Amino acid sequence: MKVLVKVPATTANLGPGFDALGLALNLWNETEFVATNDRKIEVAIEGEGAGILPCDANNSIVDSALQIFDRAGKSCNGLRIRCLNRVPLGSGLGSSSAALLTGMLGANVLLGNPFTDEEILKLAIETEGHPDNVAPAMLGGLVASIVYEDRVISLKLPARANRSPIHVTIVLPDFDFPTKQARAILPKQVDRKDAIYNISRAVLVTEALRTGDLELLGKAMSDALHQPYRIPLIPGAQAAIDAAHHAGTAAVALSGAGPSLIAFSSKEDPAVGLAMKRAFEQAGLQSRTFELGTSYEGAEVTII
Ligand code: HSE
Repeated sequence: MKVLVKVPATTANLGPGFDALGLALNLWNETEFVATNDRKIEVAIEGEGAGILPCDANNSIVDSALQIFDRAGKSCNGLRIRCLNRVPLGSGLGSSSAALLTGMLGANVLLGNPFTDEEILKLAIETEGHPDNVAPAMLGGLVASIVYEDRVISLKLPARANRSPIHVTIVLPDFDFPTKQARAILPKQVDRKDAIYNISRAVLVTEALRTGDLELLGKAMSDALHQPYRIPLIPGAQAAIDAAHHAGTAAVALSGAGPSLIAFSSKEDPAVGLAMKRAFEQAGLQSRTFELGTSYEGAEVTII
């Protein structure tokens, strides 16, 4: 049996929705799984991460697939995995969540679906440690998550961006800024005024995405809990944000924990990406630009 798993890139936080909001983007990793009986684990990688990611049991898709075999009480007699990766690694576009879900969903189907989608989502969130990439990658669209008692509730919200996608420009500077480091530098306690700043804006970000009101999005998409600590550590990031505004984008934020930036516009405008790219160049960093839409669809599994 051959299984194809498609998982989208995601942008987390959306400015003020730190660890709570996430949006699926129209950029997909596609991975084929074949169960074999030769006791070998083979991974072939094309695209992002080729030549860098491990192709053995240390691969994170393999690791999460084996987690599902273990949980189901089954042994894995061999796996052949072929990855076509489009989500850049360590970019703030949810590549680690995509890998995690890919492995779990692929293994689950190979085993005859011992776990429901809800159980897979719960397990992936527990493994990742925060829900705001995993949940939109699984469900698609704009997703809000809360921790309720000992579990996470993730809800796909109505959003105009889901039906007629808002255009997003991602600019990814060539700068190593691991999520672990980006989380470690954040203060453990926050000021009440910063909490209020974010709560009020996060609500309006969801409303702006629901109605497609980009002007409101621009006013609401700022943050006091993580961006002020992270942006100064990414050379050129503040200048790139200013340049994107100057070039006419409606709203800009750090995508997830960075280092990429995400700019929202009503239609594709190359001037926005170019302005951001120049700002990073002036800070000595090369960058890559991705012109994308949002995705109403989440992860998809097909038996081929
Ligand atoms: N909410 C997480 C963070 C996203 O900002 O640390 C990481 O991709």
